[in-house]
Amino acid sequence: MKVIKAKNYEEMSKLAANIIGAQVTINPKSVLGLATGSSPIGTYKYIIEDYNAGFLDFSKITTVNLDEYCGLDGENDQSYRYFMNNYLFNHVNIDKANTYVPNGVAKDLDIECERYENFINDLGGIDLQLLGIGHNGHIGFNEPDDIFPNIVHSSELAASTIEANSRLFNNIEDVPTVALSMGIGTIMRAKKIILVAAADKAEAIEKAVNGPVTPQVPASILQLHKDVTIIACEN
Ligand code: F6R
Repeated sequence: MKVIKAKNYEEMSKLAANIIGAQVTINPKSVLGLATGSSPIGTYKYIIEDYNAGFLDFSKITTVNLDEYCGLDGENDQSYRYFMNNYLFNHVNIDKANTYVPNGVAKDLDIECERYENFINDLGGIDLQLLGIGHNGHIGFNEPDDIFPNIVHSSELAASTIEANSRLFNNIEDVPTVALSMGIGTIMRAKKIILVAAADKAEAIEKAVNGPVTPQVPASILQLHKDVTIIACEN
């Protein structure tokens, strides 16, 4: 596990964008696993800058997102599909048909989970997965638990996650309480992982990096992955 200390959010974002840009350059047909939330917004901003400067080509890239709220379709501006279009896909030459987010309004959510997991496997797995981290150590929507969920599953959001995410909604009651998420196994099978964490996540990062490997701190499992880079802000 490599831990890089960034001076601030901008430096963290640039470092993460450089790694993703390198992956796209080395393998233009990469499968990128992507995240939403405040943490990767700066990373996407710098990726778009590099694209506009002519350094990156996304025409053969495929993306799979970590998670999606249940009950929100892609037109909803709180959905993660909407977020991805808004912060990245609308600004680079990716074919939207090659961008995948779990379907949070699928009729049968169990079938959707199985389909999404199989789909990722059929793609040959994820070459590079970008992660954020929750204050409680969650990655994707794998909340603290007694076990590490293996595959894509529907997950009840922890009360602290609902509280944290309510900043983006008018009312806390509007925050969906269930989401579809890649499992810990889905994430751990990615060939490379990078995790970006702003300064407010320092405690969660400390536990994930230096604490015991435990499903109560889902990100702690990253200690067992052979190619993880954590970029954590000091300020
Ligand atoms: C988002 C995701 C979540 C977030 C985490 C941190 O796709 O999977 O695990 O990375 O909740 O969110 P922010 O970055 O908003 O603090």
